[in-house]
Amino acid sequence: MTTATAPLVYDPYAYEIHEDPYPTYERLREEAPLYRNEERGFWALSRHADVLAGFRDSDTFSSAEGVSIDPAASGPHAHRTMSFLAMDPPQHGRMRGLVSRGFTPRRVADMEAGIRELTTQHLDACLEQGSFDFVADLAGKLPMDVISEMLGVPQADRAELRKRSDLLVHREEGMTDVPPAGVAAALDLVVYYADLIADRRANPGDDLVSALCAAEIDGDRLTDDEITGFLFLMVVAGNETTTKLLAHAWYWAWRNPDQRAKPFEDPGRIGDWVEETLRYDTSSQMLARVTRTPVELHGRVLPPGERVLLLVGAANRDPRAFPEPDRYDLDRDTSGIVSFGFGRHFCMGASLARLETRVVLEELVRRVRTYEIDADAARRVHSVNVRGFDTLPTTVEVR
Ligand code: HEM
Repeated sequence: MTTATAPLVYDPYAYEIHEDPYPTYERLREEAPLYRNEERGFWALSRHADVLAGFRDSDTFSSAEGVSIDPAASGPHAHRTMSFLAMDPPQHGRMRGLVSRGFTPRRVADMEAGIRELTTQHLDACLEQGSFDFVADLAGKLPMDVISEMLGVPQADRAELRKRSDLLVHREEGMTDVPPAGVAAALDLVVYYADLIADRRANPGDDLVSALCAAEIDGDRLTDDEITGFLFLMVVAGNETTTKLLAHAWYWAWRNPDQRAKPFEDPGRIGDWVEETLRYDTSSQMLARVTRTPVELHGRVLPPGERVLLLVGAANRDPRAFPEPDRYDLDRDTSGIVSFGFGRHFCMGASLARLETRVVLEELVRRVRTYEIDADAARRVHSVNVRGFDTLPTTVEVR
């Protein structure tokens, strides 16, 4: 419960925020639509119209210092591990152009059969047990498998890579930067990627890494460092986020049995299940920007060089954009969601994430009659911008 007298503090590192940020978001939207956190040195925008305008005006709100507030992941070097997510034009367009070839609608659609096969492999093992961890045994495995397929990472290396990428985003309570285990994991990944790139330069295959090694724009080729940055981005942007979306869909449908009944009675509603989950509790809660030019926001002029957070999770619950926003409702219009950003940096993997989630939920609905979740044993991850479960024990009754 929030009380009007309690001071309004929004700290994305606080464990209370990881458990439930929504009461704080409500107060931010109403009491401080341009919020200032002096201690951490950022401003935050929480209303839907402001977040959307921030994404749209990417000339004023620059991404060149990264999109995270972790000191180790922000600053002019951010592109080393976040590639074009942390670039402005013209560098952004050059890299995104080269990579986008791997994400054409046709390439993504062609992945459906492979995704279903991978899903079935994991799901067979889960259903045989009856009780399993939805994250560790299913949702946490598939996105990394799919990215690994795209990049040509061998099967034997995938579990280890997943463990490293989890360490990269995890934060112990009180930590406000990448912890030593995260730094060590990043170094291991750099070594692994260097070997992968060297191997593909020598033995090109049909995968995205080989395509990037060969890609040329106006005689310009990508360096090993640029490809490494992109591989980091794929793991951070495409792995955790999709895992979290899947587990949120499973969890919020369980918490709202009237809504759960809809896709279980009519699998044609699975798309609505995915979209409402993206709105209601999205995995990528906020993106940071730095002002390039003076900008007026809510009667105050911010000078260049100020860090501004776009609170996606708050915008998706703004009653100005979504009536009764705290209701999980598969019948609502979700077309205004900002879960994948907007404009120049719009998520390149949005259709892939939607496809993966739809396929997994389709297979679950086809084979599971009903399920329970052990909510007391569920645990959330502690990360500054990724929101979702680390552990979600579930028991299913198969059809
Ligand atoms: C539910 C899953 C996902 C969510 C919620 C999500 C969210 C986002 C958001 C909000 C952005 C915009 C960042 C910004 O404006 O600064 C973004 C960018 C991006 N995402 Fe995703 N994403 C998801 C899945 C994926 C997947 C599966 C991939 C690839 C395999 C991917 C690759 C990317 C890339 C490459 C960018 C950078 C685009 C650019 O800067 O031009 N994402 N994502």
